[in-house]
Amino acid sequence: MDTPRMGIDSRLADRMSMAEQHEYLRSKLSRRRVIRGGAAVAGAATGTGLLGSSAYAEGTTQAVPAQSPALLTSSATAHVDGSLVAPFGRHLAFGADPQTQIRVSWQVPLAVNKPFIRVGVKPWDLSRKIEAEVRPLHTAALTSALPAVDQYYLHAALDGLHPGTTYYYGVGHQGFDPATAAAFATIGSFTTAPAHSDKFVFTAFGDQGVSYHALANDSLILAQNPSFHLHAGDICYADPAGSGQSTDTYDARTWDQFLAQTESVASRVPWMVAVGNHDMEAWYSPNGYGGQDARWTLPGNGPDAAKLPGTYSFSYGNVGVIALDANDVSYEIPANIGISGGTQTTWLDKRLGELRNKAGIDFIVVFFHHCAFSTTNQHASEGGVREAWVPLFEKHNVDLVINGHNHVYERTDALKGGAVSKKAPIGTTVYSERDGIVYVTAGGAGRSLYSFPVPDSYEGHVADLDSVDTYHWTKGAVKATETVEWSRVRYTGYSFLAVEVEPARPGQTAKLTVSALAETGERIDHFVVARTAK
Ligand SMILES: [Fe+2]
Ligand SMILES: [Fe+2]
Repeated sequence: MDTPRMGIDSRLADRMSMAEQHEYLRSKLSRRRVIRGGAAVAGAATGTGLLGSSAYAEGTTQAVPAQSPALLTSSATAHVDGSLVAPFGRHLAFGADPQTQIRVSWQVPLAVNKPFIRVGVKPWDLSRKIEAEVRPLHTAALTSALPAVDQYYLHAALDGLHPGTTYYYGVGHQGFDPATAAAFATIGSFTTAPAHSDKFVFTAFGDQGVSYHALANDSLILAQNPSFHLHAGDICYADPAGSGQSTDTYDARTWDQFLAQTESVASRVPWMVAVGNHDMEAWYSPNGYGGQDARWTLPGNGPDAAKLPGTYSFSYGNVGVIALDANDVSYEIPANIGISGGTQTTWLDKRLGELRNKAGIDFIVVFFHHCAFSTTNQHASEGGVREAWVPLFEKHNVDLVINGHNHVYERTDALKGGAVSKKAPIGTTVYSERDGIVYVTAGGAGRSLYSFPVPDSYEGHVADLDSVDTYHWTKGAVKATETVEWSRVRYTGYSFLAVEVEPARPGQTAKLTVSALAETGERIDHFVVARTAK
């Protein structure tokens, strides 16, 4: 594959910011893509058999999807013998329809020839071979200590799958074939969403990065056997400053470590990410998300996949899930505030209405990065989310909201209009339609922890308080102090959320049993969200 090495005249570069340099290089790449585009599209063919009509057939080159304008699909021109390198960092995602669509993504450490995926319903029959899409990502040398980095991300879209079916897959390239005995141990698997609702588990957290705590949480998550995992942003911290500015520090290679760490879960469990403030990487267009476009293939069914790759929705069983990009509404860290021009909020209103009326959907879970309700000393609550989205969550009776950003576990009572509508101590059942919405901050995935202004209060260590003095962010990154009564559970420790979903049996309610587990395996909170099934 080609490496996109196209320099900028040094006199020109001196007058450009890093973001402008990237934009300039991107425009040069786009011109090359137009020249190649005809051949790439002409090569597309239709798959049949095991996979449906939109699978990419062997020997074709997939055109760059519309939502990835910063990226180049290159022809395969290897720099090394493919037998010297193995794929790593495999990560799965659902397409817009989890019953029939899975996206498989991975990385290779050096450029390779003819990357591909093999897939089948038996691990020993992977005769279906599909060429992968190549998304090389070039990061210029940002400081004298940080060299230029070329990364090679590969993607395969599997469409037309059968619901509720386990498939086996292996990824490779010329010189490395997962179907051979030498590489057979790299075979992975995934299971599509069932056609009918059944009991299942999903997991969630935010603010992970690369650390032994992050790895410990991943290990516990795998043991939950989740059907999917929600990552509520601040994914990797290659940009540890997190302001979304080109003055931030940044090391692209941290992503290599992150994807290798994550592979133990994400190669088997669809790993659905939302973007946080640390995921606005100013060196990549558009809006700092060009790198995310290279690394992830997300459902792409939000209001504007080019501007907001982390905004999308999917349904699994009786649960509708919505991922939002809260950078669009953040007063605290405003680098991307207003990037959607209001279209994200309009889309949210419409999509919530559609899910609420969709046959077979009982629960709506919304996840995104910045908290509407948290009391930590570091970030507390985002007034932009409260203003833009909380009224819509209430209008459409959302059942559970999951956030990160604050590196702790915190959980509210059931709320309406920003106030406690039903006190919800540990073990409570909340009837979301009647009682209001519980907001969970699950930001203890692995990055260094934050602190509360008051003592922790969690399962086995309850220290209830009537109120907490805290603040929320208002326009212009100004803090507004407030005294709140909704902080019901607080835990300063590494942790994640496991949600068991039960469809209603005749005469009963459908249930979300929400448990927060510490990295030690200890349960620190649990509550039930119940709803009368349609
Ligand atoms: Fe964070
Ligand atoms: Fe954050």
